[in-house]
Amino acid sequence: MSYLTTALDSSHDKKNFACGKELLDNYLHTQARQDVKRKLSACFILSEGKAIKGYYTLSSTTIQRDLLPQEIIKKLPPSYKDLPATLLGRLAIDIRYHGQGLGELLLIDALKRSYDTSITSIGSMAIIVYPIDEDAVKFYKKYGFILLPDSGKMFISMETIAQLF
Ligand SMILES: CC(C)(COP(=O)(O)OP(=O)(O)OC[C@H]1O[C@@H](n2cnc3c(N)ncnc32)[C@H](O)[C@@H]1OP(=O)(O)O)[C@@H](O)C(=O)NCCC(=O)NCCS
Repeated sequence: MSYLTTALDSSHDKKNFACGKELLDNYLHTQARQDVKRKLSACFILSEGKAIKGYYTLSSTTIQRDLLPQEIIKKLPPSYKDLPATLLGRLAIDIRYHGQGLGELLLIDALKRSYDTSITSIGSMAIIVYPIDEDAVKFYKKYGFILLPDSGKMFISMETIAQLF
C-alpha cells in the first residue's frame, strides 16, 4: 500500500503552513503534534522537503445508527446503536497550492488509508467529516459525501469508497 503522505514529524515546517482558514492553520501550528502524542489523532502530511503542502487527520469515532440513511440502516444488525467509523477531522492544502488538484489527491489519500485500515486491521463502516463551512460542504459533496440531517456531519460509506479503488 503506498500513500502520498507521511506521518507528521519534527522535520516538517509547520509554522509556515497557511490554508486560508485560521482554525486549520492554528491546529497544525500548535496542537497537531500534541494530539498525535496523546493518540487523539493521526496526522498525515503532503510535503516537498520540509515544506508542508497539505495535511489531514484521522481518528476513530462512532456514528449513531439513527442518523444514517434508511437504505444503509436496513442492512445493519439492529443491535448496533453506534457504528464504528473513521473521523477525517481536518483536511487542508496550503493556499499557495490551491486549485492545482492537490486537495483531491489529499482527500483520495485519506479515503484510501482509511479504507485499507478498515479491511486489514480495524473495522470501520464509513468516514465522517464536520465540514468547516458551506465551501467545504460543496467540496465533500463532489466526492460523494452525504450530509446527515441536523448533525453538522457528512458521511461516505466504506462500501462506496470500495467502488472508487
Ligand atoms: C478545500 C481545499 C482542500 C481544496 O483544495 P484544492 O487543492 O484547492 O482543490 P483541488 O484543486 O484539488 O480541487 C478539487 C475540486 O474541488 C473543488 N474545490 C476546490 N476548493 C473548493 C472549495 N473551497 N469549495 C468548494 N469546492 C472546492 C474544485 O473546484 C475542484 O473541482 P473541479 O475539478 O470540479 O473544478 C482547499 O481549498 C483548502 O485547504 N481550503 C481550506 C481548508 C478547508 O476548507 N478544508 C476543508 C474542510 S475541513
